[in-house]
Amino acid sequence: MKEESNMNLLFEPRSIAVVGASSKPGKIGFSVVRNLKQGGFKGKIYPINPQGGEILGEQVYNSVKDIPGEVDVASIIVPAKLAFEAVKECADKGVKHIQIITSGFSEVGEVELEHKIVDYAKSKGSRILGPNIFGVFSATSNFNSTFSATEIARGHVAILTQSGALGIAMIGKTAVNNIGLSAIVSIGNKADIDEADCLEYVVKSELTKVILMYVEGIKGGERFIEALGAATRVKPVVVLKSGRSKRGAAAAASHTGSLAGADEITDAILKQCGALRAESLQEAFNWCKFLSNAPEPKGNRGVIVTNGGGIGVMATDACEKYGVELYDDQAVLKDVFAPATPEFGSLKNPIDITGGANSAAYDLALSAPAVSDKMDATMALYCETATFDSENLAPMIRNTYKKHMDTGTPVVYAIVGGSAVENAIVTLSNENVPVFADPYDAISCMGALYRHHDFNKSRDDSVNESKIDLAAIEKVIDKALADGRTFLLANEGQDVMRAAGIMIPGAAIAKSIDDAVKCAEKIGYPVVMKVVSRDILHKSDAGGVALNIENKDEVVDAYEAIMRNCKAYKADAVIDGIEVCEMVKKGTEIIIGARKDPQMGPIVMAGMGGIYVEVMKDVAFRSAALNRGEALKMIAETRSYALLLGARGEDQKDIDVVIDSVIKASTIIRKVSRISDIEINPIVVYEKGKGVKAVDVRILITK
Ligand code: ACO
Repeated sequence: MKEESNMNLLFEPRSIAVVGASSKPGKIGFSVVRNLKQGGFKGKIYPINPQGGEILGEQVYNSVKDIPGEVDVASIIVPAKLAFEAVKECADKGVKHIQIITSGFSEVGEVELEHKIVDYAKSKGSRILGPNIFGVFSATSNFNSTFSATEIARGHVAILTQSGALGIAMIGKTAVNNIGLSAIVSIGNKADIDEADCLEYVVKSELTKVILMYVEGIKGGERFIEALGAATRVKPVVVLKSGRSKRGAAAAASHTGSLAGADEITDAILKQCGALRAESLQEAFNWCKFLSNAPEPKGNRGVIVTNGGGIGVMATDACEKYGVELYDDQAVLKDVFAPATPEFGSLKNPIDITGGANSAAYDLALSAPAVSDKMDATMALYCETATFDSENLAPMIRNTYKKHMDTGTPVVYAIVGGSAVENAIVTLSNENVPVFADPYDAISCMGALYRHHDFNKSRDDSVNESKIDLAAIEKVIDKALADGRTFLLANEGQDVMRAAGIMIPGAAIAKSIDDAVKCAEKIGYPVVMKVVSRDILHKSDAGGVALNIENKDEVVDAYEAIMRNCKAYKADAVIDGIEVCEMVKKGTEIIIGARKDPQMGPIVMAGMGGIYVEVMKDVAFRSAALNRGEALKMIAETRSYALLLGARGEDQKDIDVVIDSVIKASTIIRKVSRISDIEINPIVVYEKGKGVKAVDVRILITK
């Protein structure tokens, strides 16, 4: 559990000590002092260097101990072997936040040194940012403690980056893209302070309208998920998460020492939190810039206006891809756009004002949706034509953009053509008008805007939990651990299902032939019989399973045969008995799983079950802190959901009980600390009202 933090002081300190400050231009210890001074930081700057003297007019102290007043932040810029002593002095002095720029810790295998530093700092109540970082910038306090850019363009995007080099590059690239920053922080190895802590500051920062995160690996998934969910409630969060591919994940591991988790899990959880995951740097920048300027859409009635059919079709495809809805009321569209559209144009959305349209026609057509209360967003397209008065292209866009902004209507432009068009894009982009060279780029921005607002309109952060008999589950685990096992036997797995209320086939363990007959008669024929032995994991291979047993005589025969086969298979196997189970009727086989993910914490999974799970890979994931609505969304994401709805004339299956079972599995994985993995496969689903049967349950446990 992390202690209470005051992240404000990290970004808006009253004083900073620069340990390893240097008077030699070109050294990092010099650049940090220079950037602090040139950035206009109004707090106290204390350069620390045993050689004393002055750096850029600031008195140099031999040691942090000599500083007369309190110190909020220290920046450590001495070689790794000197870092512990430097941090120790700062922590002893009571410095609240210590940012360690130095590299050479867990990212190169020096894990112990990193732990030693964090443990000491924590013991004194200090927090560590990094190591392996480039520093912190906050526009609010003119605090530039980075060693990179002296000039950072100020604006409304806050960047949290795990990679330092990429962060420095982003400072430059955002400036080129005319995106100003409200803050940027490099998190590096995140030995202590992580994204969740930094989100706390940028979410509250009034200057910040959009947050951009570059993430490689996630530590402490539950905190991350909670902080990210809280952030997207307040402002859009764009996430660049690398390590999608196997090689990419391996590269991340050797870069900041973090393991990138399974990408489909990360992807699902980012969506569940309402974050906007960008594919590329350029897409992330496009979104950040657009989202910091765009008004909130009032509804989801979008309109495309174009002078070319081809680009209109491309934009229509892009709308489908990015989830932008198109308005379809023909009467209204005709009413609004007929004055700007020739007879041979099209008044169906996309509105095609044809290749003959000049700037006046565009002005007329694009002014209409800005003021119409029937349309909520405009996607304006232009293909260069010989008839268009090209000197009026930029003024027309500027004018219609302003009309949209005046009425709070989001608009994007995609204009395609030669150098005049490309020049217009550069000019208008520098004025923050959302103009792109490709309709996909433009509509991807509109899609991001809709995803953010739609998510917040319908978001429900409540978490559903089921009542489970925790004591009964703990007892099963105690027994298995006492037996020296880290997995539960099949019947113990069924005990856990029973304790959680997940429907299971009738079953009982028989210790004798008479017992087996009694059990079978109580459960009802036909039954299945299976050996129960920790020494026989592959029961069928050992001849330890008998199916479709119809009567008493067959029970007797099967009992004797199983005992005989298993003894022959493994003479010293300890046999605890024979499980007599209900022979489960055919239904739709699904899988429900839950586990403690090393990065994301407790997660849950559902999808198509049976023996082809690995081949079909038709499963979806969520954080296990979810509600029934989210559980349904997860199931509905899989292709096999169609089977639950009732394919080929079959009745709909009992989706309600599937959702119950997902919530129950989630509750187990969240509440039972010693269960690490649950896999119920298959769980057979019957028609509505007839429930499910969890046939095979595998559970892994830890001490
Ligand atoms: N207290 C204060 N100052 C000290 C102390 C001390 N106990 N001991 C030494 N110093 C001084 C040195 O005398 C020196 O000052 P000088 O320039 O006046 O001689 C200064 O501290 C720095 O020490 P050096 O030994 O000269 O170390 P150097 O500057 O070469 O390297 C550094 C230090 C930059 C921290 C290096 O070890 C390092 O880690 N570099 C990588 C940094 C990095 O890239 N971080 C990740 C950023 S993100 C990204 O990927 C870009």
